[in-house]
Amino acid sequence: MQTMISAAEIQKRVDEVAAEITKVYGDQPITIVGVLTGCLVFLADLIRRLEMPLRIALVQASSYRGTSTTSGQLKVQDDLLPDLRGKHLLILDDILDTGQTLHYMVGHMHKLGAASVRVAVLLRKVGRQKIPLDPDFFGFEIPDAFVVGYGLDYDDEYRNLPYIGILGGVVDP
Ligand code: XMP
Repeated sequence: MQTMISAAEIQKRVDEVAAEITKVYGDQPITIVGVLTGCLVFLADLIRRLEMPLRIALVQASSYRGTSTTSGQLKVQDDLLPDLRGKHLLILDDILDTGQTLHYMVGHMHKLGAASVRVAVLLRKVGRQKIPLDPDFFGFEIPDAFVVGYGLDYDDEYRNLPYIGILGGVVDP
C-alpha cells in the first residue's frame, strides 16, 4: 500500500482543524453530525480536541456499493438522528468527492430545522466535484485517486489503517 498521508501528518492536521473549529464556534454548544461509516476515525480523533459543549448525531449515507466505482445512487438512513431543531450543526465526513453526499446533507439538515449548518471533511479530492460546495473546514486536498485508511474503505476493508493509502491499481475513472 502506497502511503499518501502519514499517520503523523494526519494527527498534526487534525490538531489544526480542531483549532480552526474552536476559533469559529468558541464556547457555542454544537452537534457533530457524523456521516457513517467513513467519518468514524476522524470523528473520534477530532472530538477529543474540542472543548465546547458537544453532542454527537449519526447518519448513514452510501453512494459506493462495495467497490471504488460510484453507483451514483445516494442512500441515506437518518433514523438514528435526534431532534436537531435549533441546533448548530457541524456535518463531518471523511471525503468530499463529487459533493453529492454533503450537498444533500446540508439541505436535509436545514429542512430538519437546524439553526446553522457547517461542514468539515478530512479530505477534499481535487477535480472531481460536480456540485459546488465549499467545506468550512478540511484537512487535506488530494489528487484524484481512490484512497483508503483512517475510516475510508474499499469493500469495507482498510478503515483501521492509521494513515491514508492509495490502493494499488484501483483509481477512480
Ligand atoms: P461524494 O461523491 O458524494 O462522495 O462527494 C462522498 C462519499 O464517497 C465515498 N468516497 C470514497 N471512499 N475512498 C473511499 O474509501 C475514496 O477515494 C472515496 N471517494 C469517495 C466516501 O464514502 C464519501 O463519504
